[in-house]
Amino acid sequence: MTLKIGIFGTGSFGSMHARMLAGMDGVEISAICGTSLEKAEHMARDFRDAKAYATVTDMLNDKKLDAAYICVPPFAHEEIEEGLAGQGIPFFVEKPLAADLETPSRILKAVTEKSLITSVGYHFRYMDGTARALELLGDRTVGMALGYWMGEMPSVSWWRQQQGSGGQFVEQTTHIVDLLRYLLGEVEEVSATFARRHMHSKVEGVEVPDVGTVTLKLECGAIATIANTCMMPLGHKMGLDVYTDAGVLELSQTGLKDIGVGQTTEYLNNANNSLTPYEKANSIFIHAVRTGDATGILSTYADAWRTQQITTAANRSAQTGQTIRL
Ligand SMILES: NC(=O)c1ccc[n+]([C@@H]2O[C@H](COP(=O)([O-])OP(=O)(O)OC[C@H]3O[C@@H](n4cnc5c(N)ncnc54)[C@H](O)[C@@H]3O)[C@@H](O)[C@H]2O)c1
Repeated sequence: MTLKIGIFGTGSFGSMHARMLAGMDGVEISAICGTSLEKAEHMARDFRDAKAYATVTDMLNDKKLDAAYICVPPFAHEEIEEGLAGQGIPFFVEKPLAADLETPSRILKAVTEKSLITSVGYHFRYMDGTARALELLGDRTVGMALGYWMGEMPSVSWWRQQQGSGGQFVEQTTHIVDLLRYLLGEVEEVSATFARRHMHSKVEGVEVPDVGTVTLKLECGAIATIANTCMMPLGHKMGLDVYTDAGVLELSQTGLKDIGVGQTTEYLNNANNSLTPYEKANSIFIHAVRTGDATGILSTYADAWRTQQITTAANRSAQTGQTIRL
């Protein structure tokens, strides 16, 4: 049976997922929703069976979908998820779940009531290096972790506004927070310091902080600091270093380094031309929709909500100067 997929969002990631899905057997991009009909029609030209829509309601009233992909900016969530949940349509949603915590809390209720299959685009979980790190950590004692997202500010306008993106920690660094939870378990305390050092004087309309550090206490007893900046003219470092009784595990988008006494072992992601993390996440989600077996999904909406709880608590901590207990 051919699965009919609807795509919400005609930007870089909506297009990326649509192209990837269209290349899979038994999957068809059958509907595309954008902020205007022109944008949706423009993207739909690349997909033989796709019809374009300008509103969520038009698309959901007109097309019978087997699943949907939501690739819209953080501020644009809720109407889409509520519409899909109302019709019992499984969805894949790009991170972050929203710019705040209240919106995903309401969506989570609807998703849970319908026992909907969901998957969230925390693709670091699907990296080969992450799977290896999880195995290696099985018999090691973790003391602490240091995480990083050090780079440039994305040029899209919504990203600069606090209510548009939620800020860098919510929008980008969320990947590292999610990785920390996936590898080391739940967080119980969050304390953050953010500042605006440069970007607000360089680019018009920048409200979000451009440097920040966040200290986290984990339930297992380990501690972590995750730092981010978006004030540089280059991408520098993104990843998580975990310090253990056996040495350091350095995890990044390229792979994993296991650094012990006198020996470093490197595991590259996709070393044997295996699927990329995006391809893995997509094929597992499509398998779940086709078969009802969702056990391969590594990030569900309910799980991702806990990551959102931490990143939004960091915003609150930076604003109030208080440590937030979750
Ligand atoms: N997993 C990853 O590594 C990764 C990488 C890049 C982006 N993303 C995420 O994907 C999401 C989208 O990012 P992007 O780079 O595609 O952004 P983008 O700005 O390129 O595109 C966003 C699109 O959403 C559309 N849109 C806005 N409101 C809408 C609405 N209410 N209904 C339908 N469409 C609407 C806009 O017109 C635009 O076409 C973001 O949350 C981002 O964080 C994830």
